Amino acid sequence: MSNTNSAAEIRWLFDERLPPLRAQVEQELARRLTLSDDCPALLADAMRYSTLAGGKRLRPLLVLLGCEACGGDVSEALPAAAAIEFVHTYSLIHDDLPAMDDDDLRRGVPTSHIKFGEATAILAGDGLLTLAFEVIAAGIAPAAAASCCRELAGAAGAEGMVGGQQADLEAETGGVSSVEHLESIHRRKTGRLICAALRMGGCVAGAGESQLRALTDYGLRIGLAFQIADDLLDLTSTAEKLGKGVQKDAARNKLTYPSLLGVEESRRRARRLVDEARAALEAFGPPARPLLALAEYVVARDV
Ligand code: IPE
Ligand code: IPE
Ligand code: MG
Ligand code: MG
Ligand code: MG
Repeated sequence: MSNTNSAAEIRWLFDERLPPLRAQVEQELARRLTLSDDCPALLADAMRYSTLAGGKRLRPLLVLLGCEACGGDVSEALPAAAAIEFVHTYSLIHDDLPAMDDDDLRRGVPTSHIKFGEATAILAGDGLLTLAFEVIAAGIAPAAAASCCRELAGAAGAEGMVGGQQADLEAETGGVSSVEHLESIHRRKTGRLICAALRMGGCVAGAGESQLRALTDYGLRIGLAFQIADDLLDLTSTAEKLGKGVQKDAARNKLTYPSLLGVEESRRRARRLVDEARAALEAFGPPARPLLALAEYVVARDV
């Protein structure tokens, strides 16, 4: 796609297609975060604080667009959309802890442990992670709910995001590394959850194996490209723009694409991944138009 075309497609996506979906996501998140008095007020505040502070809502939107691309009813996928944003927000709260990346700004506001203290931040993460599975079990038809739980647990757990986070920390002191190792970290810490978002949408729509496989091929590639863009933005953007600290990766000796391959080669790799991701959706036809545009956004984004 030419630059002008992709810019127009991204504009169409963000001006027309995403706003109504985003509004539904925000409503679902707030509704599912209305907890009973058995949840201590400070814990409920902390869970709501980080989740409702904003963010791009990429993963919940991917659940809905994945569902739509497979011919499903988007409103049926809303609990899965909220669930993945809860898991993602928990991962951010824990990622920012002093024992991990030690960051003090997230989504434009002080991080959870700065605002509420470390213990409450850890528990807010725990609360969000478990709430995610309750919301799926309560809100989605049983067969699809079982598939969604499996997708989400596999992607978020020790072989997915949690494992990627561990490998990310170990790489800080790991010495020389390879592109393969770097890719395996990015795939696990970011790619798997993005892939699970799409697949949960597909599960709710009753997608068949070949559709799920295509969503996986697309998701793993945009997931990797998304984390490459994140690494590049850490180098080139500002805290005002991103709502989180910048220039932190080099300071912590993180293994990132730009640190290993340089900025230009990182951009080239992200571009190639997006082209491959788009090609994976060929068989879907017009219902995949938003996902094609979203892939372009992943490399064009400045936030
Ligand atoms: C940040 O994710 C962490 C990564 C996996 C790169 P996002 O860039 O999606 O953060 P929010 O949800 O918009 O705050
Ligand atoms: C975090 O990657 C990925 C997860 C939270 C799983 P980063 O550490 O690069 O994310 P940011 O830059 O702090 O958002
Ligand atoms: Mg990190
Ligand atoms: Mg971090
Ligand atoms: Mg980062």
